[in-house]
Amino acid sequence: MHIDTEKNNATQQRPLQNLPDLLAAIGHTPMIRVDFDVPATVLAKLEYLSPGGSLKDRSALYMIEHAERTGQLQPGGTVIEASSGNQGIAAAMIGAVKGYRVIVTASEKASKEKINTIKAYGAEVILCPPMPGFTDPGSYHSVAMEIHRNTPNSIMLNQYFNHTNSLAHYYSLGPEVWKQTDGLITHYIAAAGSCGHSNGAGRYLKEKNPNIKVLPVDSINSWRARNGDPKPYKLEGIGVDFEAPLYDPNVTNEFLNVTDEDSIAMLKTMARKHGLLIGPSSGAVAYAAYEYAKNLTPSDVVVMIFGDSGRAYLSKDFYND
Ligand SMILES: Cc1ncc(COP(=O)(O)O)c(C=O)c1O
Repeated sequence: MHIDTEKNNATQQRPLQNLPDLLAAIGHTPMIRVDFDVPATVLAKLEYLSPGGSLKDRSALYMIEHAERTGQLQPGGTVIEASSGNQGIAAAMIGAVKGYRVIVTASEKASKEKINTIKAYGAEVILCPPMPGFTDPGSYHSVAMEIHRNTPNSIMLNQYFNHTNSLAHYYSLGPEVWKQTDGLITHYIAAAGSCGHSNGAGRYLKEKNPNIKVLPVDSINSWRARNGDPKPYKLEGIGVDFEAPLYDPNVTNEFLNVTDEDSIAMLKTMARKHGLLIGPSSGAVAYAAYEYAKNLTPSDVVVMIFGDSGRAYLSKDFYND
């Protein structure tokens, strides 16, 4: 008791205690102008500058703290998640800070860099073969569910089905975009996987101004784009591969479908011409935004969400000719 009091006094006397700790530094990412040769103003929100390197820091933190608040996650517990990589990285980073065991299932399609990053934070990774059906036995989603069922004192974040994922973006990404554009945003363009950030932040923006167009970007080969008959695609972190519960037709104006080839070509242009080393889902967003913005007017303001960095994919050769 005596020792604790001394510790508290010592902490109060230390300088700079007002600075954020790692978890408080999540989000608050910069918004920059991108010089596309189009009539509209085009802006990019650099989500890869969040501490875990992606937009998924926001949803992992919100889902984990929601589980703590509601008593589902107890001290010493285990956090399990199925992830295309970034949600797993964010969970692993937050688990390290908060002292939870973290187990991530991921598709073999996920880049080596993302898998190694999850492990570097001390989390366990189980790789699963890509499956045509998201909920097929053996898919990374189904394997995570099974581990959760067999692990006492565990939670599964379940980003694809957990409305708290959308809420994270409703409460943090949406308000940041609105504020950074002084409420002048007219078009919001974001990659769709779970649809958490396209529809979560999109809902906030639409409540502020119902005229804002919310335009999620999807692979042209996804389950959704091909009406239930998906084809393989190389893009990672993007792709609506089942009936996504977080997709909200009242928020989404229109899906913009892109090919691997156009998205990957755009990645190179973004790095070489604009100095922006972005990941494949952001390449898809940049391509879709560029094409869309060609037909807009000077009063339009387009915001692109760049979800992660190209550094996580250098082993994939996307950036070579
Ligand atoms: C880099 C990146 N962009 C976009 C997405 C898709 O985001 P959401 O799941 O919110 O639809 C993901 C999902 O993992 C991602 O990692």
